[in-house]
Amino acid sequence: MTVRFFGSAASALFRPNSTTMSPTKVTIVGSGNWGSAIARIVGQTTKAYSNEFDPTVRMWVFEEMVNGEKLSEIINTRHENVKYLPGKILPENIVAVPDLVQSCDGSEILIFVVPHQFVKGICKQLEGKISPNAHVVSLIKGVSVQENGTGLKLISDEIREYLKCPVDVLMGANLAPEVANDMFCEATIGCQTRSVHGPMLKRLFHTDNFRISVVEDAHTVELCGALKNVVACAAGFTDGLGYGDNTKAAVIRLGLMEITKFVEHYYPGSNLSTFFESCGIADLITTCYGGRNRKVCEAFVKAGKPMAEVEKELLNGQSAQGPPTAAEVFHMLEATNLISSFPLFVAVHRICQGEMPPSGMIDCLRDHPEHQA
Ligand SMILES: NC(=O)c1ccc[n+]([C@@H]2O[C@H](COP(=O)([O-])OP(=O)(O)OC[C@H]3O[C@@H](n4cnc5c(N)ncnc54)[C@H](O)[C@@H]3O)[C@@H](O)[C@H]2O)c1
Repeated sequence: MTVRFFGSAASALFRPNSTTMSPTKVTIVGSGNWGSAIARIVGQTTKAYSNEFDPTVRMWVFEEMVNGEKLSEIINTRHENVKYLPGKILPENIVAVPDLVQSCDGSEILIFVVPHQFVKGICKQLEGKISPNAHVVSLIKGVSVQENGTGLKLISDEIREYLKCPVDVLMGANLAPEVANDMFCEATIGCQTRSVHGPMLKRLFHTDNFRISVVEDAHTVELCGALKNVVACAAGFTDGLGYGDNTKAAVIRLGLMEITKFVEHYYPGSNLSTFFESCGIADLITTCYGGRNRKVCEAFVKAGKPMAEVEKELLNGQSAQGPPTAAEVFHMLEATNLISSFPLFVAVHRICQGEMPPSGMIDCLRDHPEHQA
């Protein structure tokens, strides 16, 4: 993988530690499939821009034993995450650190890339212990529920509340195994302070095969990344039922209608063009054809076993974010009396819970409000 330099004039726009001018330290908080794939990119870019970024990148590893050895030690000696990204070498400047607080100490860029159910616990441990100049980039696709249980909370807002620092997001059509194979793709960074921080963030992630666009509409970028996993579950159900590509195209279209309606209702003021970025339609398509949510939901229909059991059998410790996101979206719709307006989202939740047979997915598509006009 080669890294092209660009925007040298803009490079002076943002220096998180401009008083010292020492290179910015970067930590990757998470080391699963996507965390390890992004480490391959960030390991390259920090070396390429070593005057701007410290090329030693710490990666927090949730410690576990793999065949009697600590995963962090395996990563630091063999430079391979044998559990979550086997067969792919990580750059030697990626250093696994099992202590969360230590891994983030002094870092000004924290790349959050863990399944969303772990965010709160991680933030609680880091509260008050990160650099005052810290800036988070969240790669997490999911949503959280507000404390009072009545509404959704964006993961970026949750991180911001705990850590009291700026939080931007990176989402896109980025199945980790393909990114790890250096296959060409695009991604979108949502950054409300794009003109100030955009160039620096772009340099941190942009390579010949991982092309970054930066937009200001960060809420839309993040919600597209979370909600597409719910639509991918619907695609998995129709695959499991034996339906073909025309049906899947209907799932993608109706799913996109629900995503845009949801974003506009709960976070008004989105920019329509954001849905045409990689984080929008492109991620929706790739997730409905590849990806673990589709796969798990197809197997759920075929095997007729509970979702948790199928996930355990198929994912080797990885996590499918679609079913929990569908549950969180359902509670939000229920609390705001909007269940009938989002039948695809609702059907996914009910099927995952065993409250509706998978064939109900087709009834839901057939009776969708989009067909009633
Ligand atoms: N995998 C992809 O293709 C992909 C692509 C884009 C975005 N994402 C998003 O990236 C995020 C991370 O996904 P991933 O694929 O890297 O993870 P993963 O599902 O591959 O791995 C699970 C991770 O969770 C860690 N973990 C397990 N128990 C934990 C605990 N109690 N506390 C903290 N961590 C624990 C594991 O060590 C592992 O690193 C998710 O939000 C996902 O939606 C994934």
